[in-house]
Amino acid sequence: MSKVAFLGLGVMGYPIAGHLLKAGHEVCVWNRTSNVSEKWGKEFSGEACTSIEDAVSGADYVMMCVGQDADVLAVAERAIPAMASGAILVDHTTASDGCAKQVGAQCAAADMGFLDAPISGGEAGAVNGQLTVMCGGKQAHFDKAVSVIDAYAKAVKLMGPVGAGQLTKMVNQICIAGMLQGLSEAVNFAQAAGLDMDEVVGAIGKGAAQSWQMDNRASTMARGEYEFGFAVDWMRKDLGIVLETAKKLGLDMPVTELVDGYYADVQEMGGSRWDTSSLLARLKGE
Ligand SMILES: NC(=O)c1ccc[n+]([C@@H]2O[C@H](COP(=O)([O-])OP(=O)(O)OC[C@H]3O[C@@H](n4cnc5c(N)ncnc54)[C@H](OP(=O)(O)O)[C@@H]3O)[C@@H](O)[C@H]2O)c1
Repeated sequence: MSKVAFLGLGVMGYPIAGHLLKAGHEVCVWNRTSNVSEKWGKEFSGEACTSIEDAVSGADYVMMCVGQDADVLAVAERAIPAMASGAILVDHTTASDGCAKQVGAQCAAADMGFLDAPISGGEAGAVNGQLTVMCGGKQAHFDKAVSVIDAYAKAVKLMGPVGAGQLTKMVNQICIAGMLQGLSEAVNFAQAAGLDMDEVVGAIGKGAAQSWQMDNRASTMARGEYEFGFAVDWMRKDLGIVLETAKKLGLDMPVTELVDGYYADVQEMGGSRWDTSSLLARLKGE
């Protein structure tokens, strides 16, 4: 078992850190807003640190899950000088591949390992320890860290050098954006045509139209429930990274660009924290 620090106890980080403790690791957590780490310490009977430096000191692995590029860079800037030589930093934030390369270079210069390791599976996947983790980094660092990540993942894969995990996550978000607009139009159509969406999913949900979004969101969309899940603000951040990267690659992304604009409409409707399936609310003009 290893000594593990976890930085950033948000929707995803909070349950993930709990799985690490339950797997038998010695865990020390830190969160910017300290009452969250205190709550975690009480709930899991684990150690809550009051500074990044205390949390990472002597850790074999430092995992983090914060918001976006600037947050990753700010946390890494404090964590790396306080980490032990030979330790491995694993970043679960969805960020740009450029950010991953910057932090990876800082770790390499300090004789530490780094994996960019964005996650998929949502809040439920984090709570149930069933996340998909797509990693970028060196094989040797991956081989060591995978046994720790296994505590909260159903699939962990090394995709290539540092940055490749974030690029894979971008592909994931491109798939989801188009898929959710399609599913929104499907639910809207079914309801307008007088069909019951649960019955429709029962009929077509094991065929070619099946998707994670259909399995997990068609029902809540049909009921107009959006106050949970993966926030529209986060999706806009992710699609911003995708569109920026596509520009550098010289690629047209017509559907992704369109859906990104639709999410901007949802934000204007007050849906910044709604689940990404709220594209249906926009379509219905709710
Ligand atoms: N939620 C999902 O379903 C999901 C799924 C896959 C991937 N992700 C990705 O995972 C990351 C976290 O998502 P989340 O849903 O857990 O977000 P969240 O609930 O908003 O939590 C964000 C966490 O990051 C911390 N943080 C943000 N900026 C910071 C900074 N500058 N310095 C220190 N700490 C900072 C926050 O601390 P405070 O408590 O002090 O604010 C909080 O602990 C994002 O990149 C997101 O895109 C989320």
